[in-house]
Amino acid sequence: MEKLYEGKAKLVYKTDKDDEIIIRYKDDATAGNGEKKATIQGKGALNLAITTRIFEMLEENGVHTHYIETLNDTDMRAKKVEIFPLEVIIRNISAGSFAKRYGVEEGIVFKEPTFELSYKNDDLGDPLMNEDHAVALGLVTRDQYDEIKKTTLKINDLLKDFFHGIGVTLVDFKIEFGKDKDGNILLADEISPDTCRLWDEKTKEKLDKDIFRRDLGNLTEGYQKVLDRIRG
Ligand code: C5P
Repeated sequence: MEKLYEGKAKLVYKTDKDDEIIIRYKDDATAGNGEKKATIQGKGALNLAITTRIFEMLEENGVHTHYIETLNDTDMRAKKVEIFPLEVIIRNISAGSFAKRYGVEEGIVFKEPTFELSYKNDDLGDPLMNEDHAVALGLVTRDQYDEIKKTTLKINDLLKDFFHGIGVTLVDFKIEFGKDKDGNILLADEISPDTCRLWDEKTKEKLDKDIFRRDLGNLTEGYQKVLDRIRG
């Protein structure tokens, strides 16, 4: 397969169809914009299996995604989109860079979800960005921004319920959107423990990439717990 793009955790390949791609989930883990790196056997397959179930659930609930089908342990067939260079982040509970930036503890439950954007740009370290900045830089139009925000809040509601159903608290997450050749906005990339903070509701155990970021133990054990619970 011809490689189109290689990211930190995924590879993108061309297919014989112009409007489709294959996304291969890698076992590579990075944190702190690539400062910390490791290869963790089995991580790619776990993320793909979890993303698959989540994208299927979102599609069933009317969210348009790039997902077409999962081909094997590591590869997903998806619609080709032009990714908006925005990291779209929802926080339901304080943690991570929010807690650090504002000097507050982790675990404050917000009355309403916070919607946050950062500019997806490794050289600049993904700086925080507001709506006007994104529009001024031509990254999105005002209408696209509105649609992205509305869809993201809906995704948050669906994901919170989904994870609550398996005894997991959705603390925060990052998603990405893209535009297909007809201009439709689709949820793209992945939704997995690499891109969400997930805490066990009872024990508060971390079941996400913070295990790697903070050296808290065995990452794949945490991700496997999430997948096992999703599979019931
Ligand atoms: O680090 P921060 O607190 O800003 O992360 C918020 C959420 O976005 C976390 O769930 C984290 O896993 C996710 N994230 C991501 N990719 C990034 C930055 C954050 O998936 N580049």
